[in-house]
Amino acid sequence: MSTSKTKENKYKIAVVPGDGIGREVMEATINVLNNLDIDFDYVYGEAGDECLEKTGNALPQETIDIVRDSDACLFGAAGETAADVIVKLRQEMKMFANLRPVKSYPNTNSLADDIDFMIVRENTEGLYIADKEEITEDGATAKRVITREAEERIIDYAFKYAQDNDKSKVTGVHKANVLKKSDGLFKEIFYEVGERYPDIKKEDFYVDATAMYLITQPESFEVIVTTNLFGDILSDEGAGLVGGLGLIPSANIGSDGALFEPVHGSAPDIAGKGIANPIAMMLSAVMMLRYLEENESADRLDNAILKLLSEGKVLTGDLGGNSTTKEVTEEIINLL
Ligand code: NAI
Ligand code: MG
Repeated sequence: MSTSKTKENKYKIAVVPGDGIGREVMEATINVLNNLDIDFDYVYGEAGDECLEKTGNALPQETIDIVRDSDACLFGAAGETAADVIVKLRQEMKMFANLRPVKSYPNTNSLADDIDFMIVRENTEGLYIADKEEITEDGATAKRVITREAEERIIDYAFKYAQDNDKSKVTGVHKANVLKKSDGLFKEIFYEVGERYPDIKKEDFYVDATAMYLITQPESFEVIVTTNLFGDILSDEGAGLVGGLGLIPSANIGSDGALFEPVHGSAPDIAGKGIANPIAMMLSAVMMLRYLEENESADRLDNAILKLLSEGKVLTGDLGGNSTTKEVTEEIINLL
């Protein structure tokens, strides 16, 4: 699924900065990437509110083509058009896996200091299928779809992720006591697929209990795999656990492409002031480097960010400091 290349063979990276601080954190991140010893060929694409104003389309076909032709895509943030841009891109690229790491860093508002787990969320079905929602005589209904194919694909992805990243346990999260058929099937597939990974421990919890365990014993989780809606909710709980949007990256992985983006939006309240925290975008770039199997560069950037946070001297306002995006970026380049 990932793309390993020799040094002479440049990676083609689609760069879609979007709106507001999306542009600012993207510029900072490209700056940092240019200080690693990898040759990237960046191809810029437009998308978002400004693009809509200028071209009448929030996600032009040209941008979709750029993303499709790339080895990986870096995405900043869109504004009000976010759903039209990012949801459509995920569909176009069939990005079935949404990965959100939850990790505690020093000098941040984290609930505990040894949190480090990955949420692997199914991105294509569950309760989030727009055309399965309808108005009825009594109100409205939404249909929850669980297919063997999609759940097997995401659960296998989670076990493989655990295997490749030295994780010892995968937790399947569902509500099979109430949703006996749909989540009953999810649970059944979880243990079926798990048999292919004899060295990895398996456990399953109900989603409501998991919501509590994330607060009471967050350090016990390593990899969580779950359906679309549950993954959406638990991953925001995870962001809250480790202290804020300025630090949370994500990846969308599919058969036709991969896209890496911070979880935050365009932050109109601070856009244009040069004070956005670029770390979430830079950690998204770390995830991209790992996807490209450029692990040495990924470690270098990851460690530089860790050092910056440990020193706690050059931090943006959201982390209690008063440094600018540019100052943080320069310090990370120094620490590389
Ligand atoms: P937001 O994530 O843009 O901002 C929420 C709060 O967190 C704001 O106070 C903001 O200043 C702060 N914040 C976010 N990222 C930060 C960073 N890197 N450094 C420092 N502070 C940061 O979410 P909000 O306000 O709900 O939405 C603003 C716009 O972004 C909306 O138009 C929304 O549609 C869009 N959006 C786009 C997303 C995407 O492109 N994937 C995701 C979420 C929202
Ligand atoms: Mg969400």
